[in-house]
Amino acid sequence: MKGLVRALLSRSIAIAAGITLATGAAGAADRAEGADGKSAPFGPALTAVSSRGMVVAATPQAAEVGAAVLAAGGNAVDAAVATAFALAVTYPEAGNLAGGGFLVLRRRDGEVLALDFRETGPAAIRKGSFLGPDGKAVEGASTRMGLAVATPGTVRGLEAAHQRLGKLSWRSLVAEAARMAREGFPVTARLAKDLASQQGLFAPHPESLRIFFPGGRPIVEGATLVQPDLAATLDAIAERGADAFHDGPIALKIAAFVRSEGGVLTAEDLRTYRPVWRKPFSFEFGRWRLHTMPLPSSGGFLLASILGQLTRVGWTPAMLETPEGAHLVAEAERRAYAERNRWLGDGDVVDVPLARLLAPGHLGALARSIDRAKATPSARIDGGMGNGTERPQTTHLSVATVDGEAVSLTYTLNGAFGNGSVVPGVGVLLNNEMDDFAVAPGQPNLFGLVQGEQNAVRPGARPLSSMTPLIALEEGTLRLVLGSPGGSTIPTTVLQVFLRAGPGRRPLAEAVAGPRLHHQHLPDLIQYEKDGLPPETARRLRSMGHVLESCGPIGMVHAIERAPNGLLTGAADPRGPGAPAASAVVRPAPH
Ligand code: DON
Repeated sequence: MKGLVRALLSRSIAIAAGITLATGAAGAADRAEGADGKSAPFGPALTAVSSRGMVVAATPQAAEVGAAVLAAGGNAVDAAVATAFALAVTYPEAGNLAGGGFLVLRRRDGEVLALDFRETGPAAIRKGSFLGPDGKAVEGASTRMGLAVATPGTVRGLEAAHQRLGKLSWRSLVAEAARMAREGFPVTARLAKDLASQQGLFAPHPESLRIFFPGGRPIVEGATLVQPDLAATLDAIAERGADAFHDGPIALKIAAFVRSEGGVLTAEDLRTYRPVWRKPFSFEFGRWRLHTMPLPSSGGFLLASILGQLTRVGWTPAMLETPEGAHLVAEAERRAYAERNRWLGDGDVVDVPLARLLAPGHLGALARSIDRAKATPSARIDGGMGNGTERPQTTHLSVATVDGEAVSLTYTLNGAFGNGSVVPGVGVLLNNEMDDFAVAPGQPNLFGLVQGEQNAVRPGARPLSSMTPLIALEEGTLRLVLGSPGGSTIPTTVLQVFLRAGPGRRPLAEAVAGPRLHHQHLPDLIQYEKDGLPPETARRLRSMGHVLESCGPIGMVHAIERAPNGLLTGAADPRGPGAPAASAVVRPAPH
């Protein structure tokens, strides 16, 4: 069986089975131009088309593994699980076993489910764990060393999705990732650059340096990255399921290592971690129905609040890319983020007044407070965020099939390569998700978010997240699957791609490649991607009182559009190394 699945998943047989790979020469031919050829500051999106099944992910290898699973009779959940494991090997920036995330899925029969495998605060963590004697956050405590590590949820999460909905054997879905870890894969220019740029993060961690900096230098493009310890961990997971990771020798090694680095994670934290099936956060916008994550993601709330305000200020798709449209969107974002920071936290642990914040009367009042001609200073709006520097990692994968199945999965280590440490003998990078809590309420975190007591550090609680995996239906029909990394910019990135590709009817490639703006209440400014804002729009926005600040790429979207006739288009963001992989065959799933 093992051999058969391995053969099915191997690249040559995958191609023989009818899988079109949107990489290499074919990919080059599929670089889609924006409508006017110059509206995409980072170049065109990489696209592929299929009448059967599609996977879009941050590495071509991982997307291909997912497409091969579809061709081998797997469903969208099988493909997402295999892709996620493959990303843990080929995309160490954010693919992971020791992180956490969210999965939204739509079944063929139309049922939508949401799985929360977000990390939790270890049992021994305390509110003051990250504070120095001066009451301020200790530099790096929540991002770099052992204390930064929250209890991981990814492996139990992927297993929970597979146990409930998967068709193919678990072992077969992990096998290809284990093979790539054992035999190695070629390091891309992007991975080499990402690793080199984080030398400081890795410096205190000899095991990370041994793997990623052989001979003391960053591994170079074209070299083969072999990860035997990670392969052995994946083999154990393939054989024994998530317990192999969460309960037993691997968990003991992870906990001992984290504690040796000053953390408080225990094997008991790992053993008792449980993912949670939640009611998806679902709401209407015109002809559209959006399904995304509820708390502890803030994404659903932010989309609903922003779109609810836009409906009430008379925003229309004709305003896309106009100064008026940018102004209205920024003003709605400013108001929604202020509320996010003040009121949102883990809804299982604190009371979050979502019903009040999303009540039509409240959204109407927010909309009426928007001046159509002038920016409202953020200081006049209650709530707060500070200035942040973003290391854009986390990763999103999308899967869809012709018959209307879809998985939208975003998972993360938080910062790029998490806290930078690989557990010796286990081969996994650890997360620094504790930084998503308000470790020092009132002080900015990695993404400049200044949050309050509602999101304070608590043992067992899940830190508030911005990850926003989205599935959107138009008049009841599956139309869009998308998501992005980008910390606090995730919800606004997802919003812009949705508005363009959905109500705006732009081609998906253009919607994904198009320039992005972001407002998060504080700092009180609109961030825009360098070269992404026409001078006239910038002039008009400044004249309304907005401060504009250029920045690097915002987000990295992996999206799928399903046309009314079922044709699937996958688009990978030109801001990242990702690719779509189309499966030309989707076999009936075995029962
Ligand atoms: O859950 C969150 O909101 C963050 N941990 C996501 C981090 C992220 O997207 C990193 N990329 N910039």
